[in-house]
Amino acid sequence: MQSKKLLRAKLAKNDEFYTRYEDVKSECDNYMSHFFNKIIYCNCDTENSAFVKYFTELKQKKIIKDIWYSGGLGGIDFRSKTSIKLLKKADLIITNPPFSLFREFLDLLIKYDKKFLIIGNKNAIAYRKIFTRIKNNKIWFGVRKWTGGIPFITQDNNIKEIPAIWFTNLSHRFRPASLLLTKNFNSDEFIKYDNANAININKTADIPKDYLGVMGVPISFLEKYTPTQFEILGLDKDFTYDKGAGLIMGKRIYTRIFIRKKSCA
Ligand SMILES: C[S@@+](CC[C@H](N)C(=O)[O-])C[C@H]1O[C@@H](n2cnc3c(N)ncnc32)[C@H](O)[C@@H]1O
Repeated sequence: MQSKKLLRAKLAKNDEFYTRYEDVKSECDNYMSHFFNKIIYCNCDTENSAFVKYFTELKQKKIIKDIWYSGGLGGIDFRSKTSIKLLKKADLIITNPPFSLFREFLDLLIKYDKKFLIIGNKNAIAYRKIFTRIKNNKIWFGVRKWTGGIPFITQDNNIKEIPAIWFTNLSHRFRPASLLLTKNFNSDEFIKYDNANAININKTADIPKDYLGVMGVPISFLEKYTPTQFEILGLDKDFTYDKGAGLIMGKRIYTRIFIRKKSCA
């Protein structure tokens, strides 16, 4: 078994991925109306960070009021008293936090009811606090498409693609419009799980337009999720009789989210 110390070192190593300037810019440019005259706090960033560079430029152009960053304050821990004081004062929290501390990071944003735009691993969707907020339309996703993940700069200056996405509670004009469905339900194609009263869907585009029962869809459905059209019921473990992943003819199906259409429209 791995020692705790070794595991921590490994996790910390996985935290050292730096966001490229072009990726910060192409996402953040979509939120300009939220930035005007605001204090932005990048609480996991040093002076070399692309976030700091981007927001320093916006400060010079007098678009934002100020940019604060942890490195500019002596490299403070985002969990420290000083950092939390600044977090409370700042208008927006924008960063790519350490993956190993993502839950703690999000807990703080929720606790202090902050507006944010942050990068996180796609897996974070299954964290209860995040999932519940996505379900209730309190957290959604950024403009960047999910396919291909995000390329980051590693400590040895290479590029590594990670299945990361932007999480936010700031509105933007690229939130998905109603999903156009073309298929009709038929019981040969859409099979029910052995362990749940729901049909299995393998691709979001296959969701039948005329089915009002419960459906298990892949996590990638969330990129297309429109709260007016669909209701999210829960993760597979909330929904299956055995509290496990969906089963079809005895075979485990990869993580599913259970949803229902709101109407046949
Ligand atoms: C995924 S990296 C991203 C760095 C930078 N935000 C960027 O986007 O390029 C996460 C950074 O958070 C820093 N970090 C780790 N633990 C931290 C903590 N408790 N408080 C503040 N920063 C932390 C790490 O050193 C690492 O540089």
